[in-house]
Amino acid sequence: MADVRYRPGNYGIDAPNVVRSLILLGIGCLVLGVASFYVFPERLHWLGAAIGTVLSLSFLILLAESLYMVWSSKVGKYRMRETLLHFINLRGDELLLDAGCGRGLVLNAAARRLTTGKAYGIDIWNKQDQSGNEPEVTKENARLEGVAERVEVLNGDMRAIPFPDGHFDAVISSLAVHNISNREERRRALGEMMRVLKPGGRLAILDFQNVREYADALRELEALDVQIFGPYWSMFPPVRIVAGRKK
Ligand SMILES: C[S@@+](CC[C@H](N)C(=O)[O-])C[C@H]1O[C@@H](n2cnc3c(N)ncnc32)[C@H](O)[C@@H]1O
Repeated sequence: MADVRYRPGNYGIDAPNVVRSLILLGIGCLVLGVASFYVFPERLHWLGAAIGTVLSLSFLILLAESLYMVWSSKVGKYRMRETLLHFINLRGDELLLDAGCGRGLVLNAAARRLTTGKAYGIDIWNKQDQSGNEPEVTKENARLEGVAERVEVLNGDMRAIPFPDGHFDAVISSLAVHNISNREERRRALGEMMRVLKPGGRLAILDFQNVREYADALRELEALDVQIFGPYWSMFPPVRIVAGRKK
């Protein structure tokens, strides 16, 4: 297992809008909760106290959720990238694709396990899915992790992967497929991942939702040994991994 304390680079916050909304909603609950203790007339004081207590507890829960999400992006995800890579068991000479690589957290960890191989990351660089999401940041993170010469970053949509059939030994994807809102489009992305894999190539997808759907789709696409692992609580929401290989 690689040293998870080794963490140069800046990998941003996942779903920054969700984190922001949770914090704002929490602050709203706190303000209304405190107000509830004072605005009700004397005879309805019990009601104000009940509402105030519920809203104050909601504030604590929302604050805890937002902190857990930030912790996931900053700490938990470093653990999960090693867990995800464990499922594709790299020798060092492979060509690997990270579909939806974002700022390169998993891509760079994969590249650190390569000697003669190369890690390719494709993304559409959506800033709502990851803060400060751009290819220059990903390349800079690869440089900071000392793997720049083994990493290549491209613009590319995982629903139309810009590589020929059977090009990669391994395909990974972390917290990216759920960003495709349409089920058919998600299936198309999984079909593309299978298409670019060599026969016998390994695939591992980490996500916090739809994982059973991915496993079913991969079996329909004739992937072998498809299995779901997790949940893993190093992240919030907790994540699962679906792993398999091409026939
Ligand atoms: C939450 S971020 C995760 C990034 C990175 N995999 C990680 O684990 O840190 C999700 C990423 O998926 C990318 N993404 C969303 N839809 C995509 C698509 N159709 N094709 C390629 N990338 C996509 C987003 O731009 C974003 O970089």
